[in-house]
Amino acid sequence: MIIEAGVALVVALGAFWTFSGEKEVCNEKWINFNKYGLKNDLETKLYGQHIAAEVILKTVTGFMENKNPKKPLVLSLHGWTGTGKTFVSQLIAENIYKKKMKCSFVHLFSVTTHFPLKAHIDEYKTQLQEWIRGNVSICPRSMFIFDEMDKMPLELIDSIKPYLDFSDNLDGVSYRQAIFIFLSNAGGKMINDVTMKFWRDGKEREEIQLKDLETVLSQSVFNNEDSGFWHTSLIDKKLVDFFVPFLPLEYKHVIQCGLGEMARQGLTPDNNVIKRMADDLIFFPKEERVFSDQGCKLIANKLHFYIP
Ligand SMILES: Nc1ncnc2c1ncn2[C@@H]1O[C@H](COP(=O)(O)OP(=O)(O)OP(=O)(O)O)[C@@H](O)[C@H]1O
Ligand SMILES: *[C@@H]1O[C@H](CO)[C@@H](O)[C@H](O)[C@H]1NC(C)=O
Ligand SMILES: [Mg+2]
Repeated sequence: MIIEAGVALVVALGAFWTFSGEKEVCNEKWINFNKYGLKNDLETKLYGQHIAAEVILKTVTGFMENKNPKKPLVLSLHGWTGTGKTFVSQLIAENIYKKKMKCSFVHLFSVTTHFPLKAHIDEYKTQLQEWIRGNVSICPRSMFIFDEMDKMPLELIDSIKPYLDFSDNLDGVSYRQAIFIFLSNAGGKMINDVTMKFWRDGKEREEIQLKDLETVLSQSVFNNEDSGFWHTSLIDKKLVDFFVPFLPLEYKHVIQCGLGEMARQGLTPDNNVIKRMADDLIFFPKEERVFSDQGCKLIANKLHFYIP
């Protein structure tokens, strides 16, 4: 009787397994880097971010094609709100993991959601370390995205630093295949100022190079009260491979976002609709209205108000 019930259960589980699709495993079937997919996505879906697109493509491709990386890949994405930082981290995940953001080897942490209470910091520290260790031992090719990095308590950052380092093995686990991506608005104002200066000087946006922003970024970050500490502590030990700047988006990029969003929602892209929407958004500098104050954020929701 018990055996029969057991058999029935196993059969039922088996059927459920088949119905709900195969179990995700940490192998090439589920984790397979698509270099051309990433290149194509960065070229066609990401607007106005020539520096970020180049840096991301080169570093991610180099890392994924390296059979024996010495340390995990650590990228820190910086810029004004709505410029594409979260979007780019999704594009990276989509071109590595078959199940994209739903992949069980991709972990997204948002400081205000996952670690909201200062009083619980000790608990968070052990929990986060256990999560990283546990997940990397299950799958070395794990990806960890930390959003709102500028709000992350220094103690918590210190607790993850050992995993970003060259250290070969930590308690028998190697972290060299893992990918860490930090997202923040830190340095966003400085990036905007440099971009605006290029525009005022009559130069092309595409003339801006990584080196024009790298120094500015690390300096601003050192001086910024809110985010100075985590940067300092990460820069000092050279744990971050690249600081990737995201430029403020211009009017024409907002139009591109709007048209792209209409297509994505199965609507016929309509220039007039998008223009009316864009005209209601806030741009800076106030007089010339060049750069979008919210980037392309909330466009997906705003759109419907303008569709007749
Ligand atoms: N450069 C861009 N190219 C194409 N689409 C973009 C771009 N920037 C933003 N978007 C669109 O706007 C949405 C919001 O952008 P995203 O969440 O990536 O901004 P963010 O930089 O992470 O902002 P925040 O700092 O507020 O988190 C994206 O889902 C995407 O649809
Ligand atoms: C992996 O990380 C998730 C959070 O994304 C956590 O809930 C889970 O417990 C971790 N797994 C292990 C084995 O530590
Ligand atoms: Mg974001």
